[in-house]
Amino acid sequence: STRPVYRIASIPGDGIGPEVISTGITVLKKLAAVLGTFDLQFDHFDWSSDYYKKYGRYIPEGGLEELKKYNAIFFGAVGAPDVPDHISLWSLRLALVQPLQHYANVRPTRVLRGITPPLTSTATNPQNLDWVIIRENTEGEYAGQGGRTHVGQPWEVATEVAIFTRHGIERLMRFAFETAQKRKRKKLCVVTKSNAQRSGLVLWDEVAKIVGREFPDVEWDKMLVDAMTTRMVLHPETLDTIVATNLHADILSDLAASLAGSIGIAPTSNLDPTRANPSMFEPIHGSAFDLVGKGTANPVGTFWTAAEMLRWLEEETAADGLMECIENVTERGVRTADLGGNAGTEEVTREVCEEIERVC
Ligand code: NAI
Ligand code: MG
Repeated sequence: STRPVYRIASIPGDGIGPEVISTGITVLKKLAAVLGTFDLQFDHFDWSSDYYKKYGRYIPEGGLEELKKYNAIFFGAVGAPDVPDHISLWSLRLALVQPLQHYANVRPTRVLRGITPPLTSTATNPQNLDWVIIRENTEGEYAGQGGRTHVGQPWEVATEVAIFTRHGIERLMRFAFETAQKRKRKKLCVVTKSNAQRSGLVLWDEVAKIVGREFPDVEWDKMLVDAMTTRMVLHPETLDTIVATNLHADILSDLAASLAGSIGIAPTSNLDPTRANPSMFEPIHGSAFDLVGKGTANPVGTFWTAAEMLRWLEEETAADGLMECIENVTERGVRTADLGGNAGTEEVTREVCEEIERVC
């Protein structure tokens, strides 16, 4: 049989994006070479804030159509000190996620072996924190509806309108229930703020109830987002799969990553579950200006992201093997400063590559 070849579009972007994406590609190439069961071909797209400063746009004419030819997109981060964040985010990341209908943003969180999480209770029982957060990724509070009137006047007014469609909630909710159903504990927590936000999030609750009927084996409950922060900190073992709106899940997933040890280890997948478009995989963190060029950025978030990308490409064995190697390395104490260690980006990468040669 012929080996499958996956074509990957890499968009390293800004800041530490290029540093972590190049280490991610090194590790993926090593894994493919050692396993010999599939091939990966990378093409690089230099869409970034530098590109924007030169050409006035982040994505060139026809760029989106070009991306559709790939099996997956491997993305770093976007954001530069001299471009307003709302311009960079909307012109690149959201300009990909929305038209490619990456409506499910998936964020697994658990305590990797050898990592000491900040809470003593979780450090003692690391298995208590094992979650996957499903974030609505195309509408809600980040729908992009709003505007400014009387600009610069003392009576200036700005609106930011959250959009919730029955269709958008339903497809996401179904994906969340399916995710919960595939996990050992089959539990889903539906997060809202449907006491204060009395339209969109009441619809969210109603749709959850309707979709939930299709999944009698999934045990689900509801939580208001403010109370959810408390539950995540004090009773992590009561949670498994979590579904929330674009804004709420954005915030909860940074909290989740910190509770598991660091934002530097957390992966995220922007999925089009219909597979009509290639999905996009990125570490959760941003371009981290404070770390650029220092060689200290944690590459583990990108490695875990690479494993999630392989899983989506249905290369389960490779994905599991890569996670095993990453955790063998974190367990040995080869860790970057954000995890209390003193290894640099390159050392962690080298160790993971050596581990792949030993284990895979
Ligand atoms: P950030 O994630 O870049 O940094 C937050 C903190 O985490 C910083 O102290 C940073 O040093 C640390 N950190 C981040 N990644 C790390 C890593 N791999 N290893 C070790 N430490 C790490 O978030 P911030 O500072 O809010 O945003 C910086 C820029 O990134 C902004 O322009 C923002 O808009 C953009 N951003 C882009 C995202 C994306 O492209 N998906 C996501 C989040 C922010
Ligand atoms: Mg975020």
